[in-house]
Amino acid sequence: MMDKLKVKQSLNLQGEVKISGAKNAALPIICAGILAGSKLELTNVPNLKDITTLVKLLQGMGIKIQFADNQMQIDANGLNNFVAPYELVKTMRASILVLGPLLARFGKAQVSLPGGCAIGARPVDQHIKGLTAMGAKIEIEHGYIKAVANRLRGARIVMDMVTVTGTENLLMAAVLAEGTTTLENCAREPEVYDLANCLVKMGAKISGIGTDKMVIEGVEKLSGAQHAIIADRIEAGTYAVATAITMGDVTLTNTRFETMGAVIDKLTQAGALITHGADWIRIKIGQKVKAVDLKTVPYPGFPTDMQAQFIALNTIANGTATVVETIFENRYMHVSELRRMGADITVDDNIAVIKGVNTLMGTTVMATDLRASASLVLAGLVATGETIIDRVYHLDRGYENMEFKLNNIGAQIERLK
Ligand code: UD1
Repeated sequence: MMDKLKVKQSLNLQGEVKISGAKNAALPIICAGILAGSKLELTNVPNLKDITTLVKLLQGMGIKIQFADNQMQIDANGLNNFVAPYELVKTMRASILVLGPLLARFGKAQVSLPGGCAIGARPVDQHIKGLTAMGAKIEIEHGYIKAVANRLRGARIVMDMVTVTGTENLLMAAVLAEGTTTLENCAREPEVYDLANCLVKMGAKISGIGTDKMVIEGVEKLSGAQHAIIADRIEAGTYAVATAITMGDVTLTNTRFETMGAVIDKLTQAGALITHGADWIRIKIGQKVKAVDLKTVPYPGFPTDMQAQFIALNTIANGTATVVETIFENRYMHVSELRRMGADITVDDNIAVIKGVNTLMGTTVMATDLRASASLVLAGLVATGETIIDRVYHLDRGYENMEFKLNNIGAQIERLK
């Protein structure tokens, strides 16, 4: 049986939420363990379904991994199998992140093509183009990317679009390549620079970290290191919206304020009062939120992974908001579920127009992807009565202890097994 969540109307959330390490930083950094000749030791690793899926994938390759209490040790020296099978890749597209490191250190890899996913086609052509430029021979056979290389060599690569995992894969390939690689049009997401910083601790030579042009001087080998995963800005943003939508007063701890500029700006426009230190953010809101327009773009602009949550916020705001999704096609699956709760939303192509309504009504809704699920929980917090959310495994992929964290600040959420 699949778990469900029962969310009761829970207004005015109050208290403190400790933010976990970022899923999207932990995934590539764990894969960077493949590159290390000795143990890579990570802290602040979130305990999530996507992380355990990756652990299973790497263990299947012969890598030794210990994971407990948000700490992980990775020892890749026993690696003897270079295949990322379809059964695991289909449940988590980020499995593609093993491709660059496997090729760079061992000269071979077979990774299942991820295939379509609920939020669009999401091709991996840029990963393949970049690795080919570094000298890899890549063929697509029977649904698998089959890649071989002698030592990769440095190249100048200009990515056609800003891709987060594409940048990460090519970065991990370049650190062990022979000579200099220039990566242009890089994603500048904090998760990318967290990976780059970890690689530097392992002995990589990278300049331009945090910019759209990184220059990598390949080295012969890398060693293990110790690294703490950066705070999850999307998780923090989700709890910030939970605070705003319920007109609460919540302090988020273990955060990184400077990674959250675009989201904080929108919350301020919506009427929230924000105060912060380097590692905490307090969100307080005394009146119903105002509608906020937004457009998703690569970092440092507004993140696509916060789009669904802000649509939920806009459903009960004063006024009308226009949301434009420019990163993924077909990322509005939450809209039809929110409409069933009484939201007034129209979608035309990639533009959603949300007219604020006075109340949402609880009902049974279905989660369709990770962030869409989060938006349904947020809507459930303000909807009258009870909201039952089906297929919450999507939520468990990316939020550590969500119902525990929300209940701790006054929400009434129950997991139905
Ligand atoms: C990552 C994040 C995901 C986030 C997304 C955008 C991880 C594990 N996941 O996903 O949560 O929503 O960034 O911020 O970090 N594209 C191509 N060809 C490619 C690669 C990408 O056409 O080879 C396109 C995609 O279809 C999409 C856009 O580029 O339209 C951006 O995708 P990308 O940044 O690669 O997303 P992910 O890295 O998969």
